[in-house]
Amino acid sequence: MPQDVLESIVSNLLENAKQAGCQHIHLQLEKKTRCILLHVEDDGCGIDELNLKNIFTPFFTTKRQEGGTGLGLSINQSLLRKYGGAIVYSDLKKGMYATRFTLTFPYEEISDAEKEVSLKDRLDN
Ligand SMILES: Nc1ncnc2c1ncn2[C@@H]1O[C@H](COP(=O)(O)OP(=O)(O)O)[C@@H](O)[C@H]1O
Ligand SMILES: [Mg+2]
Repeated sequence: MPQDVLESIVSNLLENAKQAGCQHIHLQLEKKTRCILLHVEDDGCGIDELNLKNIFTPFFTTKRQEGGTGLGLSINQSLLRKYGGAIVYSDLKKGMYATRFTLTFPYEEISDAEKEVSLKDRLDN
């Protein structure tokens, strides 16, 4: 995934957290065998259960008065899907934070041949 796409996705999530009035944002990276997970949590106002099913719908916003477009999460979702990733609202694993999103990025395993080349490089130096 290009760096500018990743930056735009993360900055979108941080902007939402800020607009929800958060004091703290917690970012956590988790490496799985075939993907990398990014958990983004904030202690803002949280998301009303009634709104949860709509948050990824284009133009759904609870911030219309403040100029919200309702496009942030839906664009994030489209971009992640385009690059083989995904985003979910992951409240089941939620701890002390009001809101938690988890993103997954595909992760390309380095081939054995590549590992051997880099190991040889290190031994030669
Ligand atoms: N971190 C968050 N805390 C509370 N509510 C959120 C958060 N992220 C998203 N939301 C809710 O999801 C809706 C859709 O978000 P988004 O697609 O980014 O559109 P917008 O920010 O323009 O409203 C927001 O209006 C808000 O109700
Ligand atoms: Mg937004």
